[in-house]
Amino acid sequence: MKITYYGHASLGIEVGGKNIIVDPFITGNPKAAGIDINSLKADYILVTHAHGDHVLDVETIAKNTNAVIVSNAEIATYYGSKGFNSHPMNHGGSWKFDFGRVKYVNAIHSSSFPDGTYGGNPGGFVIEGEHKNIYIAGDTALTYDMKLIPLRTELDLVILPIGDNFTMDVEDAIIASDFLECDKILGYHFDTFGYIEINHEEAIRKFFDKGKDLMLLEIGESIEL
Ligand code: NI
Ligand code: MN
Repeated sequence: MKITYYGHASLGIEVGGKNIIVDPFITGNPKAAGIDINSLKADYILVTHAHGDHVLDVETIAKNTNAVIVSNAEIATYYGSKGFNSHPMNHGGSWKFDFGRVKYVNAIHSSSFPDGTYGGNPGGFVIEGEHKNIYIAGDTALTYDMKLIPLRTELDLVILPIGDNFTMDVEDAIIASDFLECDKILGYHFDTFGYIEINHEEAIRKFFDKGKDLMLLEIGESIEL
């Protein structure tokens, strides 16, 4: 499994021979100006919730690639009614796709589209690939529900928001990684706007002091699991 960071909460995942894009917000992020969304490959687009900083480039990428948009029922229906391919899910449900199993799990946040359209309830994704399992939290507060995830899935990496203000901060993300029983963390949802700027060295040290490895990737950088 290869994971590429496209800035903010946007990710590319290569797994099982398929390409997945998560929460594409690239053209609206000046820090991601080096990423050409028209060159991105996607068989699937996973959307955690309907906020503009997670859906901005969904339609462009879906048009370019014919990707299937996977999200909660309301978001999937929204895109389906516009003629896009979509797969509706809801909390606690999972589906075996051709690259692995995906479960839509709870997040504590909100989820309206930028135009006010109802975007269902926000979530995160557990992806069980052929060899590795990951959890993408989406925008969320720290929640006890995270403890449920390792009861079913042994996680190799957790992708957690750490920017504070709209989501968890670093301290809560450390507790989240305890709940998730995973000490390998990729941080996201930081630095994009003034509200969520963080001190990278301090964040990495705080995780390190608890015996955990926080990775902060450059935009366009990849890791291999
Ligand atoms: Ni949000
Ligand atoms: Mn967000």
